[in-house]
Amino acid sequence: MCGKLDEAVDIALMEPVFDKYSGRKGTLIPVLQQAQALYGYLPRPVLDRISTRLRIPMSRIYGVATFYSQFYLERRGRHVLKVCDGTACHVKGTPALLNAIREQHGIGPGQTTEDYELTLEVVYCIGSCALAPVAVLDSEVMGQVRRENLLAKIKNRTVNPAVEQ
Ligand code: FES
Repeated sequence: MCGKLDEAVDIALMEPVFDKYSGRKGTLIPVLQQAQALYGYLPRPVLDRISTRLRIPMSRIYGVATFYSQFYLERRGRHVLKVCDGTACHVKGTPALLNAIREQHGIGPGQTTEDYELTLEVVYCIGSCALAPVAVLDSEVMGQVRRENLLAKIKNRTVNPAVEQ
């Protein structure tokens, strides 16, 4: 694969957000939420613009953006796979699933494929231990996941989103 695809960030998309929150107090978090809803993450140029428009230092913006797990500072994949590595899932085979994803897609936990199709996240117990090992692809929960099934599901989703297994 080549390097990560270039992205164009249209900062003008933020103008209606600034209009909505202009002159109000305590607006940083809602503005960051709106920015993330627009871009899927918080691009640096957008944070710069937020800093200027809200007159908030970048250090504080970064402090907030890194404190809350809901915010992402890096672009994420079109699909997000969460693999549980809590105790029950770990024992039932999560390490093999993570290895399979690394072999097939070249990414580890917290990483995104170069084509921005897939982001892999590791979570620790989502409360479905009886179904271990558990993975969630976008909003689809999968239980008793096996390597081949997981890879097939990812391939199906990323190559042709219209086809469901
Ligand atoms: S440890 Fe994975 S769902 Fe509980």
